[in-house]
Amino acid sequence: MKKLSNELLLGCSISANQAEGSFDVDGKGLSIAELRRYNPNLDRKDINTERKMTKEKLEEALKDDGTYVYPKKFGVDFFNRYKEDVKLIADMKNNCFRTSIAWTRIFPNGDEAEPNEKGLKFYDNLIDELIKYKIEPIITISHYEMPYNLVEKYGGWKNPMLIDLYLKFAKTVLERYKDKVKYWVPFNEINAANYSVWAGAGLRDDEHPQILGLSMIALHNIFLANAKVIKIGRGINSNFLFGSMVATMLSYYENADPSLVLKAEKDQQLKIYSFFDVLHRGEYPKYTLNLFKKFNLDLKISDEDKKIMKENTCDFVGFSYYMSGVVTENEGGLTEGNLAKTGKNKYLKENEWGWQIDPVGLRILMNRLYDRYQKPLFILENGVGFDEKPSDEQIKDDYRIEYIKDHLQQMQCAIEDGVECIGYTAWSLMDIISHGTSEMTKRYGFIYVDQDNYGNGTKDRTIKKSYEWFKKVCETREV
Ligand code: BG6
Repeated sequence: MKKLSNELLLGCSISANQAEGSFDVDGKGLSIAELRRYNPNLDRKDINTERKMTKEKLEEALKDDGTYVYPKKFGVDFFNRYKEDVKLIADMKNNCFRTSIAWTRIFPNGDEAEPNEKGLKFYDNLIDELIKYKIEPIITISHYEMPYNLVEKYGGWKNPMLIDLYLKFAKTVLERYKDKVKYWVPFNEINAANYSVWAGAGLRDDEHPQILGLSMIALHNIFLANAKVIKIGRGINSNFLFGSMVATMLSYYENADPSLVLKAEKDQQLKIYSFFDVLHRGEYPKYTLNLFKKFNLDLKISDEDKKIMKENTCDFVGFSYYMSGVVTENEGGLTEGNLAKTGKNKYLKENEWGWQIDPVGLRILMNRLYDRYQKPLFILENGVGFDEKPSDEQIKDDYRIEYIKDHLQQMQCAIEDGVECIGYTAWSLMDIISHGTSEMTKRYGFIYVDQDNYGNGTKDRTIKKSYEWFKKVCETREV
């Protein structure tokens, strides 16, 4: 048993595009998330193919006039049920809650001159509702849900014009909630810009033969936007705290062969540190600059931009952690993972989607990140998806309890190792639409939502056994 500090923020996390629905209400515009289909023939062990956006898939999606083939248009009705859901958060004794603000509710096409007041009203109400119960809101400004118009008209984040358009949106919400929200996350899983280019950067996977080169240009614009939004935010409220958010694709060495160890070190530079380094040290590491050369990228970073990046780094090291992997030479030995496939680890179990469960990996990662950046950490996402069937009885999700419990214990071990940690928000509060596959059957919630992959069901909420367990953890601070 471990004792958690009373100071620790402990709660749940969701995103607007996976939960809210009401895609055409109050002037909301179309987001890129709403163009991701649900494929009934989905191969659960090949999510990374499904995740790719091609010209063909996009053309098909644009013809849709609101069918459940595109489930993120409907979410799980958080837009209408937020009061009930916030009450469930409060009853679970959580002291914080992380969600995102849908860009398309505020600037439906992303390039309007003025924000959509009706869209802002929804977040006024949601944030006030959280504050009513003394729940600290943690707001992600952009969680894979940019306006589609910014892709159609400007080509997504490869176009530097996106920086100002994003800043206009971000400034609107930073000013609006300056006295209500302290914790801000400018971009969800910023490394998605390279590993899941549609979600992270608004680029089609088949848009360029060297998509990684193109996505690095887009990522540079995102990094600049990240630094600029921090600068603007600090001018609005000097107490704001800004977090990085990187999907931590932790990989081990396959064996002690030094050349493989080196390969794994390089893999971690590429997949994790190259993002955190820019966000926390304010400049590109040499190994990223080498990569730019390899791709013949001449980013022409002005001295002014270098200065902005250097002076406006994030306050806390935010990250998602679901699973770990192995750097392997054996292409046949790969399994699925968050944002990319990875090598199988014979010491770990995996869920039905092939994501390997590794609580100790969280402690390893936390130690590494704290050693490297010496800033407080925030585990912004951690959880596990299971296919749970509707039932008349309460869902007894002992496997989820075990997963979250083991991770919380390892988090506490890392804290005892000397790591500073602000908080932990489990993914997710209730079952929501899967980001990667747009299915409902990959359920992460402490709360069951009566909805299937085709939108059938009452959308009613029922608490699972894990809800009661997590409530006790939040109350007693014992895990
Ligand atoms: C993270 C995302 O990558 O993983 C979430 O920030 C997502 O949006 C979560 O839902 C789990 O991924 P998936 O594909 O199983 O929903």
